Amino acid sequence: MQLKKIDLTAGTIPLYYYENLASTNQTLHSMIKEGITLPVAVIAQEQSAGKGQWGRVWHSRRGGLYLSLGLSMRLKVENALHLSLISGWGVAEVLNREGIPVNLKWPNDLLLQGRKLGGIKIETCSQEEMISQIIIGIGINWRNEVPTGGINLIEYTNINRLEQLAKLTLEGLFLAAQNYTKEGLEGTLPLYLNRLDTIGKEVQINGMAGLVVGVNAKGQLRVVVSSPGARCEISCLPGMISLGYH
Ligand code: BTN
Repeated sequence: MQLKKIDLTAGTIPLYYYENLASTNQTLHSMIKEGITLPVAVIAQEQSAGKGQWGRVWHSRRGGLYLSLGLSMRLKVENALHLSLISGWGVAEVLNREGIPVNLKWPNDLLLQGRKLGGIKIETCSQEEMISQIIIGIGINWRNEVPTGGINLIEYTNINRLEQLAKLTLEGLFLAAQNYTKEGLEGTLPLYLNRLDTIGKEVQINGMAGLVVGVNAKGQLRVVVSSPGARCEISCLPGMISLGYH
């Protein structure tokens, strides 16, 4: 392990750099339990048990970015979904500023040319309905082999150092945190919606066909399900629906 420092617009933060870890989220979780001062970032060159969403494995061979950022942030447990939306927005935003047209699949998959460029897994530490610390774990396909439906950033851009991608990603996450602290989800949602690719898509919900019509003020997906003579709008939490496209 090497302890480095990384200079960001928001200030300098410690970066723990590992060759190989089971999961950067897991290591950061242990560090937080041991009382490390936040913010702090953890990167691994490869992960043997990378955690994806919904209990899936995140394949983490060398060549990808595997990064977790730990932040202190106080918010209600019921608002945890906000973190997913804002973090995806922040990273998409900085990559767009670099000329890379990344957009989002709700809640926070990073898409490039309609294919999955990266994913985010948020974990939180909470007490009595209040979140106190958050772990934002992000995997971005840089020059690693990608599964079907995935895309590499290196095919598309001149970001040719992993450190450069790590720095941009962290800038995006801090931008998101600052924006959210100042403006709440209300202020960040219009920016998020500008980058969202999901509206107007057909989805499956409990075996029925639905149409995505928006995202509500809580960050839930608004889906309209219609049958002859009836129309009903449902607010969906992540995991409730299958967004049947990459
Ligand atoms: C997804 O399933 O879309 C989310 C994938 C998140 C993967 C990243 S890689 C770095 C961090 N550590 C983990 O174990 N998972 C996240």
